[in-house]
Amino acid sequence: PEVPKDSMCAILQHLEAVFERAVRVAFPQHTAPVNTQIQLSKMADYQCNVAMALAKILRQNPRVVGQAVLDAAGTSPLIANMQLSGSGFINITLSTGFIREQVTRLVTHGVTPPPLNKRKVAVDFSSPNIAKEMHVGHLRSTIIGDSICRLLEFLGHDVLRINHLGDWGTQFGMLIAHLQDRFPNYLKTPPAISDLQGFYKESKKRFDEDEQFKVRAYKAVVQLQGHDPDHINGWTMICDISKREFNKVYERLDVKLSPYGESFYQSRMEAIVADLEQRGLLEQARIQEDETDRKDDRKFMYSNTVEEPQTVMPLIMVKSDGGFTYDTSDMACIRYRTQELDVDWLIYVTDAGQQQHFKSFRAAAARAGYFNSATTRMDHVMFGVVLGEDRKKFKTRSGDTVRLVELLEEGLVRAEAILKEKGRDEALSQQEFDHVKEAVAYGCIKYADLCHDRTRDYVFSFDRMLDFKGNTAAYLLYALTRICSIARTAGVSSGSLLTEARKEPMQLEHEKEWKLARTLLKLPDVILKLTEDLYLHPLCEFLYEVSTVFSEFYDNCYCVEKDKDGNITKIHTSRLLLCEATATVFKQCLAILGIKTVERM
Ligand code: ARG
Repeated sequence: PEVPKDSMCAILQHLEAVFERAVRVAFPQHTAPVNTQIQLSKMADYQCNVAMALAKILRQNPRVVGQAVLDAAGTSPLIANMQLSGSGFINITLSTGFIREQVTRLVTHGVTPPPLNKRKVAVDFSSPNIAKEMHVGHLRSTIIGDSICRLLEFLGHDVLRINHLGDWGTQFGMLIAHLQDRFPNYLKTPPAISDLQGFYKESKKRFDEDEQFKVRAYKAVVQLQGHDPDHINGWTMICDISKREFNKVYERLDVKLSPYGESFYQSRMEAIVADLEQRGLLEQARIQEDETDRKDDRKFMYSNTVEEPQTVMPLIMVKSDGGFTYDTSDMACIRYRTQELDVDWLIYVTDAGQQQHFKSFRAAAARAGYFNSATTRMDHVMFGVVLGEDRKKFKTRSGDTVRLVELLEEGLVRAEAILKEKGRDEALSQQEFDHVKEAVAYGCIKYADLCHDRTRDYVFSFDRMLDFKGNTAAYLLYALTRICSIARTAGVSSGSLLTEARKEPMQLEHEKEWKLARTLLKLPDVILKLTEDLYLHPLCEFLYEVSTVFSEFYDNCYCVEKDKDGNITKIHTSRLLLCEATATVFKQCLAILGIKTVERM
């Protein structure tokens, strides 16, 4: 395996390749996949434990197997030394020259991602429903999806950030009918509906209680889907009000999204239903759902055989009134993405409650030939529920859904109070303070979401997320400002550090300097791991580890020495370079998490 010349090296990945090849050379008869079992080690830098498992399979002595692998491993510019120890472990010590060169590279080139195959990725995230409230579940989808986009963009993939808005359901029938009644002049003077949620509730109530209204609502849907201009007009008005509200959230969180709502697929839904029907892939219900044996007019698409009816739920492609469903739109949408947009990686970010839907439609799409798992990757990135501090579903005191804009606003107020308590408002200009306040508030909300295993439920607590101690964005942002201030207070500019770094690889002497350098160089492997399963919390854990190891370094190694009067007597340039490299890693990780950094706070 080659060591990349123009980017950082993913060390673990490289070592895995070295040892996988060594196993193949040493034991050509062993054709099964190899797990090289390389880990960080206390004894050396890394340890390879492949010999143990392999010895069992081959029925040989592990030490003999270890020696054979070692002999076949050859040399690598990363490795200074390899040694067999104990019952067959291989201890790997990295080349100090390599470490120095790589960590210096962070200062001269920033974090440069390891080379990899580029893909065209559609990330479907946020995706709230028009007129219904955008709730904390959508906030999670927005934050996680945005971070995944930032990660993939950083790696050089071609990323489409898609907002699959729920803008085309039967709910529009009742909304438009209600609009016609409440604002008969809506075509001439567009109404200013400030509380769209209230409007939604009113119309829903009428829909549930008033038979005549219900009939009109159904008619309105048909007219809307038939593109009657007046109905399209009313629909556009309602969508615009909703979108304005969503955009406020996206702007605050600095999230970019292109809207391709469900409505976008109307003609494509007609086309795929015709396509599937013609190919005999649509059926009436296979099993009657109720004993009355009422005929079920819906059209389903099954993806499992009749013998195993339970494995995958069928999709409902056409309702009994001829209308389409969420399933239909996702089928049309996947075909659009794979066949028209030529996407070869599909990512959907939704709550875990939709797992069944994604399983079913993945199977159906594969059956229909709209999706080919051999050439296209598909991930359903799911997440758990947001809980309040009482561990119940997150709600306002009155039991309503929390409005996102209000939630973000509360974050700002709380961040401001905490920063003032710490006297930060006095040290900063008003403009700087406002900037810090936003970075802290939104950074903390995002980080609190991203630092947990996303599949678990998580408790939303402002007190915890805004704590300046522990694994929070508040702590990390503050740690970064301290790292950045070390060189600044010594009067050394970034420019002069850059010049130093370009001259020769930095010196590393103290044990803690080496430890910090090795920790920083784990980043490429951490990033590659993130793309395998699209979990983001390991990046947060890594960042927190960097901050801890940095503190150890800073407590043990003077960067700047002063006499008792506070005059600078010595500047350790290479240590300042190490601070600079640490800051670079910090900034890149925070950028991937969508968190804005500040110079001072
Ligand atoms: N609008 C849906 C919801 O609020 C999420 C849509 C997710 N995307 C998709 N292609 N199904 O639950």
